[in-house]
Amino acid sequence: MAAYDYETHEYDCIVVGAGGSGLRATLGMAEQGLKTACITKVFPTRSHTVAAQGGIAASLGNMGPDDWQWHMYDTVKGSDWLGDTDAMEYLAREAPKAVYELEHYGVPFSRTEEGKIYQRPFGGHTTEFGEGPPVQRTCAAADRTGHAILHTLYGQSLKNNAEFYIEYFAIDLIMAEDGTCQGVVAWCLDDGSIHVFNAKMTVLATGGYGRAYFSATSAHTCTGDGGGMVARAGLPLQDMEFVQFHPTGIYGSGCLITEGARGEGGYLTNSEGERFMERYAPTYKDLASRDVVSRCMTMEIREGRGVGAEGDHIHLHLNHLPPETLAERLPGISESARIFAGVDLTKEPIPVLPTVHYNMGGIPTNYWGEVLNPTADAPDAVSPGLMAVGEAGCASVHGANRLGSNSLIDLVVFGRAAGIRAGQVVDRTAGNPSLNQASIDAALDRFDGLRHADGGVATAELRLEMQKAMQADAAVFRTDKTLGEGVTKMTAIANKMNDIKVSDRSMVWNSDLMETLELENLMPNALATIVGAEARKESRGAHAHEDYPDRDDDNWRNHTLAHVDGAKVALSYRGVHLDPLTTEDEGGIELKKIAPKARIY
Ligand code: FUM
Repeated sequence: MAAYDYETHEYDCIVVGAGGSGLRATLGMAEQGLKTACITKVFPTRSHTVAAQGGIAASLGNMGPDDWQWHMYDTVKGSDWLGDTDAMEYLAREAPKAVYELEHYGVPFSRTEEGKIYQRPFGGHTTEFGEGPPVQRTCAAADRTGHAILHTLYGQSLKNNAEFYIEYFAIDLIMAEDGTCQGVVAWCLDDGSIHVFNAKMTVLATGGYGRAYFSATSAHTCTGDGGGMVARAGLPLQDMEFVQFHPTGIYGSGCLITEGARGEGGYLTNSEGERFMERYAPTYKDLASRDVVSRCMTMEIREGRGVGAEGDHIHLHLNHLPPETLAERLPGISESARIFAGVDLTKEPIPVLPTVHYNMGGIPTNYWGEVLNPTADAPDAVSPGLMAVGEAGCASVHGANRLGSNSLIDLVVFGRAAGIRAGQVVDRTAGNPSLNQASIDAALDRFDGLRHADGGVATAELRLEMQKAMQADAAVFRTDKTLGEGVTKMTAIANKMNDIKVSDRSMVWNSDLMETLELENLMPNALATIVGAEARKESRGAHAHEDYPDRDDDNWRNHTLAHVDGAKVALSYRGVHLDPLTTEDEGGIELKKIAPKARIY
């Protein structure tokens, strides 16, 4: 057994991760007087939410008529009917409240002439249950909305006495023998000390796992740490096969160009200068939903109409827009286009390509953020003491495809919900129960094993192998052949974790060891993705299977559950929640309005 001294801390609630959802949960818990700590591997305002550009969806109706039921309908359709209806209703209903709260906390939103929060159009957001024109629903702080939200929530959390453990890497969950989560074991990167956090409620807000792929808009820190910890605790991951490609990553660097660019009037062209989206999505054109636009761009390239010397990308035009609009509404991407593509977007188009951007799947939860451990008899059974929010979680509101700007609203609505729920279920008068020592020892043994790993494969080498396999075989379009090859490759790659080599054995700022821990977290996420995709014999949302081009609601309107153990993945399925939270009589949506149909934009 590895011998490490550690310091023990006791809290009502701990939150792992300080992005939008983690900070919103931290703030909600701290505001209620719960003793709350946030443990984060990066400084809070450097969390990946800082990169969110275009905005946050809520039916405020500041720029024209809107309704939470239209937002709910768009989200259901966007999800390709795989989202849980109760969670999608909760999201759309609570969104305006959550945004006004942000405004009152101090988020510096852009403003209309009348001083209201400015809202722009985003893909897939419509009026009249998909029958009316596009709606301006996405509330924006120029094209730096995530940055504005993150700074405000961090300040408010400090004001409410939340405690922060910054540059602490969570190694593993501490699980009691009865399956209750009791907290986490963490490593302080800065001084090498080990810490045990004993908590009545643990919230995973660790973000997505975009870095399982070679080219992603995600930060290098997006390594699926929550999913890794959950898999090792024997809990499942859900719907991991649904990986979103954002239509406009800058060709080469993968850096994001916000969908807000098309919301403000930008459009895509092929090598013939054609606005090809008019052919594929005659009504909403460049503002069709993301999976649709990414597929159309890929088809144009495959059919020989890509731009550039190698005909392998597409052009995004903004040069027809007034320079004042670009300067006021899109200052951030003006800079990104110059730095990462060498383009002055007032004069030239930006070279873009669909790029991995978001994971619809994650740790299964209900709409309060409580983690589920489904069994055949109890598909909604809760795993006590554990929550997951934000991109790490899967509530599931995005189903098979997320609409743009529904991510930031997911972060704050469900971060807020987790805080509300913790206030109801955490007994702040009770002492913290004693911890399961065997679970702490297992975490430290795993840490020590990796710290002293002396195999034949360097971490960076194995990570690149994984990223290339995922990029090639779990792509925008998939076939039985590519997915079958992907499963074989990824199984072999995951097995190589047993032969990993770490060269630095020190405890202080050992980035070699940290990247190895991150790689061990990425692996179960990547495996669950490719194995889940190989098994799903239909096309739905972001899962475009060329051998099964149609959606198959009779057989596949189900969530995939993946239990990952080393390189082995066991799949099972649970039904989608079809019932909304409120009935029509209670002011809820008419069920026939959201019945499955062909998804046309
Ligand atoms: O395009 C964007 O600004 C990204 C937004 C999102 O992913 O929601």
